[in-house]
Order: sequence, then structure tokens, then C-alpha cells
Amino acid sequence: MYVNNLKGFIGETVEIRGWVYNLRSSGKVRFILLRDGTGIVQTVMFSPTKDSLQFKKFDELSLESSVILWGKVKEEKRAPGGVEIDIEDFEIVQVSEEYPIQKKEHSIGFLMPLRHLWIRSRKQFATLKLRDILIWKIREFFKKEGFTLVDTPILTPSSCEGTTTLFETEYFDQKAYLSQSGQLYNEANAMAFGKVYCFGPTFRAEKSKTRRHLIEFWMVEPEAAYYDFEDMMKVAENFVEYIIQETIKEGREYLEILERDLSKLENIKAPFPRIKYTDAFKILKEEGSQTPEGEDFGGTDETIISSKFDEPVFVTHFPAKIKAFYMQPDPENPEYTLSFDLLAPEGYGEVIGGSERIHDYKLLVKKLKEHGYSEEDYKWYLDLRKYGSVPHSGFGLGLERTLSWITGIHHIREAIPYPRTLYNLYP
Ligand code: 4AD
Ligand code: MG
Repeated sequence: MYVNNLKGFIGETVEIRGWVYNLRSSGKVRFILLRDGTGIVQTVMFSPTKDSLQFKKFDELSLESSVILWGKVKEEKRAPGGVEIDIEDFEIVQVSEEYPIQKKEHSIGFLMPLRHLWIRSRKQFATLKLRDILIWKIREFFKKEGFTLVDTPILTPSSCEGTTTLFETEYFDQKAYLSQSGQLYNEANAMAFGKVYCFGPTFRAEKSKTRRHLIEFWMVEPEAAYYDFEDMMKVAENFVEYIIQETIKEGREYLEILERDLSKLENIKAPFPRIKYTDAFKILKEEGSQTPEGEDFGGTDETIISSKFDEPVFVTHFPAKIKAFYMQPDPENPEYTLSFDLLAPEGYGEVIGGSERIHDYKLLVKKLKEHGYSEEDYKWYLDLRKYGSVPHSGFGLGLERTLSWITGIHHIREAIPYPRTLYNLYP
């Protein structure tokens, strides 16, 4: 029996196997708050005498001791979850040593090296439960829309998003790089399956120590043949609406634990406003941003732009100079690209980056060279422009950025079970 099912067993005697979340005693009553991985239930024990055998056993317990417990389920409106268990008996599996995480505020520097234990805490637990829900909703959307999941490799021979953030590793007598994005393979897969997506861990050796950057993060990337830039933005906005609305529907109890203001999320409905890069810069100048026009936005720039809107906003048509080699130039002004970023509201910044891809062989070779890549390394990728090339588009959504936004947490490191940040590889 698990705690999240107890409501259906009022009046029955059940067995719960879990860990002590908290202990309380008052007079002739003892309380064990027991967590079992699905939730927390209050369990109660009465005794006419303080030195009863059961109370002696209770006195051995400490926070996080593992316990198997038997008792009768009863309705208790005041208890979390609406039920309580009258303990009939319990068995101690292990008496926990003094647990380092106490029921008080700890600093992040203290908690991070204890991440393997910290995930038991209520808010961390709720955040990671929402991560699970969000991942399912992402997969559900693409399944519903007819996209095929085609996995892309993690060990790769070349770069997708620029060579400055590559993790290099030995691959017997060759060099390999950890994937920055599955996109290039997605493009091949789209020519085989039409509409595809990949979803897995990606790696960026980014020297940025911000609340929005991880070194290892998960990205979901759809790619579709014959989809232009506009078509793909429509996919992106419907996708974001779907995963937000469905996650808050299914994850309400966890969002309540996190005290998330749901009114901000319930309003997220497609279509989303669009603004061109050059117009976004007009806003930035008015607001006193120091970023020179033509450069990429910084985190504060993103916050300034998105604060003008209550919903996510697309910034489109970025300069070719600051974007990846594969982006299709804007036919109206080839210095710019058919690209889009989606900025989340409430200061969460860029959650999606996407574009139409160059489908012309000669133009792609030219862009590769301009970016300093060798044609030879991308031979297989260039093949896609030789054998039945078609216009196509795709995007990548960062899972942890999106989860941070949904849960309202301040720092992205809490949106992944074991964060890899600039200075953190432990545990
Ligand atoms: O904008 P990015 O770099 O786009 C790509 O990698 C494309 N190849 C995707 C594609 O078109 N298939 O990354 C996409 C998203 C960002 O919008 C952001 O949400 C997330 O990935 N992201 C990060 N999340 C956490 N930490 C980092 N260091 C991130 N870098 C990117
Ligand atoms: Mg980007």
C-alpha cells in the first residue's frame, strides 16, 4: 500500500513501508509523519502509559529512520492528505544516524553536496515529481501530433552549436564531443520519417554561472520536413500551451507544495506575441541596456523584453552573425535569419531556440566555411542537401528552464536531480 492510495482504504488496516519524515509527541500521543515516495501520511499512536513497549520503540526513532508500519486508516480533515493512520504496530528497519538536513533553512552551499539526501525534502520532491509529469506531457504532445521519436547520439564527431562550448573526450584513437544538440541528426531523421523529435541530455562547456545555465541539461527537439519557419513557430506555441496546461492540471498538488501562483500559468494560451530582433533592441535601448545592437541578448535583456508581456514572446529574425551556421537567411534581408527564440515571462528567459534550416547545398557549404568548419567533417550532413533536400525547420526546448518557470523556482539547479554547474560535479 502506498500513501497516495490511502483515501480509498478508510476503515481498513494497511501496511506502509517508508521513512520517518518527522516525529512529534505530546502526553499520551505519539505522531510519526511517514513518507513513502508517493506522499506523507500522519500516523498516530496512543498509550495509557508513557513507558509502554511501543513508546519505547518510538523513542529509538530518528528522522529518516526506515520503518514498516501497520494500522487502520481513518478520515482526518485536518491532516495533510485528509487521512491519518492509527498505528497498530511498527517495525524499525534501520535507525537512521543523525540526519544532516534539519527542518530549518539551510544554505545552498550546505545543501548542494547533500543533493542525494536533499531530494527527499518536500519541495525538492515536488519539483522532481513535476519534472516527471512534464516529461510525459512533452512526449504525449509529440505522439498526438504524429512525430516519431528517433534518438540521436551523445558521442559525436562534430559540433552543432559552436566549438567554444564543446566537451571533448577520447574515442579510442579519435576525438569525440558530447552532444550539444541532436539537431543535425534530427534533420537526417526528418528526411526519413517526416516529423521527428529527440529528447535527451545535452552538454555545454559554458563558463556562465547564472541561474539559467547548466552544463548538462535535457533538451527536446522536434524537426519537420516541409515545415517553414512560420509552421514551426505554430508547433512551438501549441506545444508550450499544451505542456504548461497539462502539467498544471496533473501536477496541482505539487505546485501547491511549491506555493506557485497558478493564475500566471493558467493564462498561457497560444498564439504568443512576436517581435523582431531589431524591434526588441528598440525596447532595450529605451530601457537603458548597454548591449550593443547586433549582439546576442544577455539574461537581463531577456528579462526586460519579456517583462513587457504577460505571456511568452517570440523574438524572431536574429542577425546571422550571432547565430549558428545552419539557419536559413531571411529572404528580405540576408543579414538576418529565419530564427526564433521564445522568452518565458516572469524573468525565466529563453526556453526555446529554433529556426528554418538552410536546404540549399551551395549556401550551406558557404556558411559552414564562413563559420570555420571543415566541409569534410560535415560530409554526411551535406548529403541531406544532395539527396532530396527540402525546406525544414525545428527547435529545441530546454527542459530545466521550462520546469523552473512552471514551478517558479529561482535557480535552475533545483530543476534537475543532480545538477552539473560550473563548479559542481558532486555528488
Ligand atoms: O538555443 P539553443 O542553443 O538551440 C539549439 O541547440 C538548437 N540546435 C535546437 C534546435 O533547433 N533543435 O538551445 C535550445 C534551448 C534553449 O532555448 C534553452 O532553453 C536550453 O536549450 N538551453 C539551456 N538550458 C540550460 N542550460 C544551458 N546551458 C542551456 N543552453 C541552452
Ligand atoms: Mg538559443
